[in-house]
Amino acid sequence: MSFRVQPPAPARPNRCQLFGPGSRPAIFEKMASSAADVINLDLEDSVAPDDKAQARRNIIAASHDIDWGSKYLSVRINGLDTPYWYRDVVELLEEGSERIDQIMIPKVGCAADVYAVDALVTAIEAAKGRKKRISLEVIIETAAGIAHVEEIAASSPRLQAMSLGAADFAASMGMATTGIGGTQENYYMIREGAKYWSDPWHWAQTAIVAACRTHGILPVDGPFGDFSDDEGFRAQALRSATLGMVGKWAIHPKQVALANEVFTPSEAAVAEAREILAAMEKAKAEGAGATVYKGRLVDIASIRQAEVIVRQSEMMKG
Ligand code: COA
Ligand code: MG
Repeated sequence: MSFRVQPPAPARPNRCQLFGPGSRPAIFEKMASSAADVINLDLEDSVAPDDKAQARRNIIAASHDIDWGSKYLSVRINGLDTPYWYRDVVELLEEGSERIDQIMIPKVGCAADVYAVDALVTAIEAAKGRKKRISLEVIIETAAGIAHVEEIAASSPRLQAMSLGAADFAASMGMATTGIGGTQENYYMIREGAKYWSDPWHWAQTAIVAACRTHGILPVDGPFGDFSDDEGFRAQALRSATLGMVGKWAIHPKQVALANEVFTPSEAAVAEAREILAAMEKAKAEGAGATVYKGRLVDIASIRQAEVIVRQSEMMKG
């Protein structure tokens, strides 16, 4: 380990973030009774320009009137390149209830974008005497965002989570696809005449995970657009979990159970992790730093790997 110890990410479950347009209040109760850990009420791209003001009113009312239970309640504001974002923050925090936990900033391109929102949030909290300190989450979904991902991860003590937004990311990068996440038809290699598909999101995901883990932020996989394709969603989510991400968005309620399933460590994985920890305890008692478990090497690094799974499982059980 470096002399600078890696800080832990916030210890709260973030397996699924369920999105819904702020302009569609009829679904808010359904979102509140879903099994998602995080609710993202949207003011940005799922809300038409003429509906922005009413969507704010809806979300403010819902922060007072709806029982959100133990869900982490986040509101996605508009981007800093729009005329909407400052009113989003001002109205939400002046009139919204203390039930709001988090503000999501889309299309973040540099640390100063987060700084600007942090400054506004801090001023409103002080002026209004708000007791709960609002946290922030960001979406990396532009070329600038991924180019500056590490400074963004370090930008504010309020920052708790960072998502990859595949659709806007693809557009900003000039990628030749209209798919939102998942396998892309033209991203393949050929060997002996057969096609093998590769993962065009892999680099951005690992860059986000590394930046997040360096600064104690939760790395999250964003949307998977084809909500009729459960297997495609599961495959994308499993890849993200394997790379170190803690959860994934749901843009339709049927994706919530899929995300929860993938990002909750299975009984078998937890049992194996505990067996590895026990094997290493025994090895240590015998003065060894490495031993054999099911025919493979386990050593002191294996303890850290196994602890990730056990800690994750214990946190989810509350
Ligand atoms: N959260 C909770 N419930 C939802 C929901 C959501 N995001 N979207 C739909 N539902 C409900 C519907 O009201 C319907 O309920 P009912 O069975 O009681 O009538 C049920 O789930 C099935 O909905 P369905 O008819 O399949 O979908 P739809 O056509 O109503 O809506 C979308 C589909 C994609 C438009 C909608 O899910 C949506 O707006 N998703 C979020 C989009 C978003 O926020 N994007 C920004 C982030 S990328
Ligand atoms: Mg976007």
